[in-house]
Amino acid sequence: MIYKITYGEPDINSEAVVRYVFQETSPNDFSELFKDIEYKVDGEYITLKRRIENEGYFFGFGDKVGPLDRKGRRYVFWNTDNFTHHPSADPLYKSFPFFVYISKDFNKVYGCFTDYPGWMEIDIDSKNDKTISFKIRGKGFNQYIITGKNVREILKQYLRLTGQNIAFPIWAFGYQQSRWSYMTQDEVLDIANKFRKEDIPCDVIYLDIDYMQDYKVFTWNKNNFPNYREMLEKLHQEGFKVISILDPGVKVERFYKIFENGNGRYFLKDIYGGDFEGAVWPGRVRFPDFRDKKVRIWWARNAKKYLEDGIDGFWNDMNEIAIFATEDDIKEARKKLKNAKLEDGIKLAGTLGSIGEIGRQGHGDDIVHLDGTPHWKVKNTYGLNMTKATSEMIQKDLNKRPFLISRSAYSGIQRYGGVWTGDNHSWWEHIRQEIIRINSLSLAGVFYSGFDVGGFGGDVNAELLIRFMQLGVFSPMFRNHSAIGTKRQEPWQFGEEVKNILRDVIKFRYRLIPYIYTQYMLGIKKNIPLVRPLFYDFSKKEALKIEDEFMFGDSILVAPVDRPNIEKRLVWLPKTAINLFDGNIYKNGWRIVNTPIEYIPAFQLINTAIPTMEPQSYVDMLKVDTISWNVFSDGKSRIMSYFYEDDGISLGYKKREYNLKQILIKENNIIIKTKQADYNVRNRTWNFSITYIDGSTKNVSIEVGNDGEYTIPIR
Ligand code: GLC
Repeated sequence: MIYKITYGEPDINSEAVVRYVFQETSPNDFSELFKDIEYKVDGEYITLKRRIENEGYFFGFGDKVGPLDRKGRRYVFWNTDNFTHHPSADPLYKSFPFFVYISKDFNKVYGCFTDYPGWMEIDIDSKNDKTISFKIRGKGFNQYIITGKNVREILKQYLRLTGQNIAFPIWAFGYQQSRWSYMTQDEVLDIANKFRKEDIPCDVIYLDIDYMQDYKVFTWNKNNFPNYREMLEKLHQEGFKVISILDPGVKVERFYKIFENGNGRYFLKDIYGGDFEGAVWPGRVRFPDFRDKKVRIWWARNAKKYLEDGIDGFWNDMNEIAIFATEDDIKEARKKLKNAKLEDGIKLAGTLGSIGEIGRQGHGDDIVHLDGTPHWKVKNTYGLNMTKATSEMIQKDLNKRPFLISRSAYSGIQRYGGVWTGDNHSWWEHIRQEIIRINSLSLAGVFYSGFDVGGFGGDVNAELLIRFMQLGVFSPMFRNHSAIGTKRQEPWQFGEEVKNILRDVIKFRYRLIPYIYTQYMLGIKKNIPLVRPLFYDFSKKEALKIEDEFMFGDSILVAPVDRPNIEKRLVWLPKTAINLFDGNIYKNGWRIVNTPIEYIPAFQLINTAIPTMEPQSYVDMLKVDTISWNVFSDGKSRIMSYFYEDDGISLGYKKREYNLKQILIKENNIIIKTKQADYNVRNRTWNFSITYIDGSTKNVSIEVGNDGEYTIPIR
C-alpha cells in the first residue's frame, strides 16, 4: 500500500510521481513503525523529526558513497558535480530521496520517499538518538510511505508510483569502450579495428567532448572528424554503436546557430531578469531550461540531427548543473586575480579552488526558470528533464528504445533512461564503492546503471583493471572509461597476458547475454532489478550485513575481489552453489573460495538454469544457433527458468511483441512451454548440461522452434 502524507504547503511538482495509487493519510497511522515528534518552520526551512526504531537497516538513496546501510549519517540532496568520491563526499550528482527500512528480523519493512526536488537533508540517526530528520528549504513536501511484506513488494510499488523503467536496447548489454577523448575519426576507427583484430568483443564506442567544434553542442569538429558520417557508417558495418556526449551549456557566440536560436527564448535567467551565464567546457555559456516543454522539443530536434548522422544514443553530462564559474564568481575571483574573465572559468576554478562547483557546490539562488520558478526549488530535476527531452523524442518520433545515460538524476529518471556514477577513480576502494552504488541505484528504481570500469581519474594498473573489469561483467552497463591525462585502459594496454585475461572476461559477459537479457526484460516488466543486494532475495541476517556480494538476476551470486593480491576470499552463500569457473560445489554458509587473478568470482545457486551462448564479437541474436543451458540441480526439486527474446531495439515489447519460453525441469523431464510467440524466433538447438549436487552430470539436446511445447526426458 502507498500512503501520502503532506507536510506544509508544497508548491512544486517534481514530476517524479506518475500514478496516484495511494491513500492520503496522517503520520499517526504508522505508530507501529515510527512517530513524528517535532515539526519546525524556521525561516525558509522546515524540519521534521521522527522517532524510529534504531535496531534496523536503512537502504537506498541511489549512488551516494558510504556503506550500503545508510544509518548513522546525514545526506544532502542537492545535485552537484563533486568529482572526488572519497568516503564521505556528499552531495554527489543525483538525488533519490527514497529508502527502505528493514528490521533486524525482517518483520517490519517500509519504504519512504520524500518528494522534494530542491535542497533537502535527511539525517538517519547520526546523533544516535533514535531519530530521523528531514529538512528542506521550501514551503512543504509530500512524503510517500510504502508498506508491504518485503523489499521486493515495496520496490514494485515505488515503481508504480514513479514509473516503470524504459527498456534499453539489447546492444546496451555488450561491452562498451570509452575515453576522454578519442580525438580523431582515425583514432576511433583504429580502436574499433583493434577490437575486431584482437577478437575482443565490443558493441559500443563513445565520443567524448572533443568530437565537437570548440565544445559547442550539436556541432562536429570538422578538422578531426572530416568524414564523420562515413566513420559512423564504417563503425555500423563492423557492428559498433556510437554514443556521443551532450553537455547542456550552450556557448555564447554570435552566428553559432544553436546559441542564436535559443537566445532570448530558451535559456535560464538570472534573478535580475538578465540571462544567467556561467563557464563550462566551451567557456562562456547559457543553459537551456528543460523544465519548459518547448525547450525540450527544440533540444530534441537538434539531437535528432546527430541521430540522422548515425549517432546511436547520448550520455548526458554536466547536468547537475555543473558550472565552473559564474559572473559573480569571477567578481569574487578578481580580488585575487586581476584580469579574470568568465571565459577562463575552468582554469580559474582549478587555480583558486574556491569558485563555482569547486568552492560552493552548485548554484541555485542566482538562477530563475522561464516560468519564474526559482532554480533552487527544482535544481535536482535539471538532469531528469534534460534526459526526458531526448527520451520522449526517440520513443515518440522514432518508436525506438532510447540509449540515454545521465550523470545527474532525480527519482523517476528510470522512465527516460539510465545513469552512470560519474567520475570515480582507479582506486581499489572504488571497486567496493561501485558495488554499493549500483545496488543502491537498483533500490532507487534505476535498473540500467554503471560506473567507469577501470576508474575515471588516476592511473590504473593491470591487476586493478582486471578486477574492475570482472565486476563490470555483472553491472547492467559494462563500460570502460577514463579521463584525459590518465593511463590508457583499453583491454590491450597492459601486454599479452593481461589482454588474454581481459578477452576472456569480456567473452564471459557475452556468454551470459541470453541470461542477462531475459532477466533484465522480465525485470523491467515486473519491476525487479537485475542487480540487487542479497537481502532482496534472502531474508537471512547475514544478507542484511554483506555489502561485497550481490545477486545478478535470480540465479547468479557475485563476490568480487576488491583488494590486490587476493587468491582466496570468504563468501557467504545463502544456498548450495557451484563456482562458475572451476565447477567446485560449495554448501551454503561461509566458505573460502579460490580467486586467482583470472577467476571472476561468481556462483550459480542450486536449482537454477542459466541460458548462455557462444560469445559473439557484438550482440546479434539472429546469428545465434545454439543455446547452452547450465543447470545445477539437487536432483529432487523443480527448477523453473525463462528464455525471453524480442527485436532488441523497438518499443514492441510494450505490446507483447516478444517470444517467451518457460522451462520447467522436474522428475527427469525438461518441459519447455511457449508462453508468448508474438515475435518470431529462429529454430535453435538447446543443449542442457545438468550438474547434480554430487558432481555427476547429464547432457540432453533438443531443437526448439518459435512456438509449441516440448518434453525432453533426462537420461
Ligand atoms: C565529466 C564526465 C566524464 C567526461 C568528462 C569530459 O567529468 O563525468 O565522464 O569524460 O566530463 O567530458
